Amino acid sequence: MKVLILPDAQAAVARAADIIADIVTKKPDAVLGLATGGTMLPLYDVLAQRHRDSGLSFAQTASFNLDEYIGLAPEHPCSYHYYMEDVFFRRVDIDPSRTHLPKGNTDDPHAASEAYEALIEEAGGIDLQLLGIGQNGHIGFNEPTASLGSRTRVKTLTDSTRRANQTYFASFDETPRYAITTGVATILDSRKCLLLATGAAKAEAVAKMIEGPLSAACPASALQLHARATIVLDRDAANALALMDYYETVHPEGQPSAFD
Ligand code: PGA
Repeated sequence: MKVLILPDAQAAVARAADIIADIVTKKPDAVLGLATGGTMLPLYDVLAQRHRDSGLSFAQTASFNLDEYIGLAPEHPCSYHYYMEDVFFRRVDIDPSRTHLPKGNTDDPHAASEAYEALIEEAGGIDLQLLGIGQNGHIGFNEPTASLGSRTRVKTLTDSTRRANQTYFASFDETPRYAITTGVATILDSRKCLLLATGAAKAEAVAKMIEGPLSAACPASALQLHARATIVLDRDAANALALMDYYETVHPEGQPSAFD
């Protein structure tokens, strides 16, 4: 794992944006795996800004989001379809026909999950998978004890995830209980992974992911198996890492090392 520790959240977001911009510039038709959540909002802002000011283009890229709530129509303001449209897609030049999210408003979420997994494969797989991390160590909606061999499927959300996401809904009861999420194995199949975590609330999960045992109890620890996983952190999110000095020696200020 490449662990990049930046002085603050703004610098961490800029570093993650650099990595995405680099891929899209070198491979304009890259297949991007995208993520939602509060952490990603400033990242999409920076990417949209770079599109506007520096011509960063997503015109040929395709995208596959990690997950979607079951039961929410794309127009629902709390759906991830809506989030992506609002914070990213409408602000850049990505072709809407090449953007994909799991279909949450369906009578057959199992069939929708299988279709989504097949669509990723048809697209040739994901070049760069962007990830956040839950306080409980989830990636996508792969909650603790999710199979490390899992593929896109229906997951029941933990109460802690529902509480974390409740801010977007009118009440806890209205916060969805189920989602379609790409699996841990789907994520590990991506050619590169980029996980962004900021803020002290993520410090414990980040330490378990990087330095804890490989375990379904912390699905993000599966990234230890990935040969090209980059973890971008601000200082607060890095705070519980035992080997912080080592990571900072290898990548001072989160910048590339001599051998990158
Ligand atoms: P957050 O969510 O960015 O809103 O904290 C991250 C996640 O749950 O993956």
